[in-house]
Amino acid sequence: MNEDIKEILYSKEQIEEISKKIGAQLTIDYAGKKPLVICVLKGAILFMADIIRKMDTYTEIDFMDVSSYGDSTVSSGEVKIIKDLDVPVEGRNVLIIEDIIDTGKTLQCIVSLLKHRKAQSVKICTLLDKPERRVEGVVPNYVGFQVPNEFVVGYGLDYQGMYRNLPYVGILKEEIYENN
Ligand code: PRP
Ligand code: MN
Ligand code: MG
Repeated sequence: MNEDIKEILYSKEQIEEISKKIGAQLTIDYAGKKPLVICVLKGAILFMADIIRKMDTYTEIDFMDVSSYGDSTVSSGEVKIIKDLDVPVEGRNVLIIEDIIDTGKTLQCIVSLLKHRKAQSVKICTLLDKPERRVEGVVPNYVGFQVPNEFVVGYGLDYQGMYRNLPYVGILKEEIYENN
């Protein structure tokens, strides 16, 4: 699997370090707020597991899975809920964990849904941000790293379902996806 990677962008150690830093900040920001931390499946599972272990505060977790209708759809930002939350969000301080924000469509939709359900506050924490591709006005509150407009995989990010278990974030070799 490693041989399919052109370049390592962020190592296991760098990710560990940034998770610690963000976790410390979240510990301060969410002190006494009993946040509901939401993992956006599937990409966010690794980062979520890191972040919650670095948050020294009473924390509840939940999971949500959405699927994008894709770029061919006229109505931008339309996503379908595959798995909804188990926990009601009304009055809660919600922290959404993502692996990457690309166009922002996924988060735009989730954030407006949570606000519609009367969450007290909604914040976003993402490992990676790819601002070059943004079409929605989504601005994350906590960001690990910015990434260039390249095909990145690993640490939760997939190509055709694979590579999520790489312990680092890397750029996929063109030859892997160019003939597909
Ligand atoms: C990826 C990624 C983000 C989203 C970002 O998820 O994990 O959730 O796309 O793209 P956007 O900002 O353009 O909406 P994907 O839909 O591929 O599902 P996955 O997490 O299960 O891989
Ligand atoms: Mn995702
Ligand atoms: Mg994906």
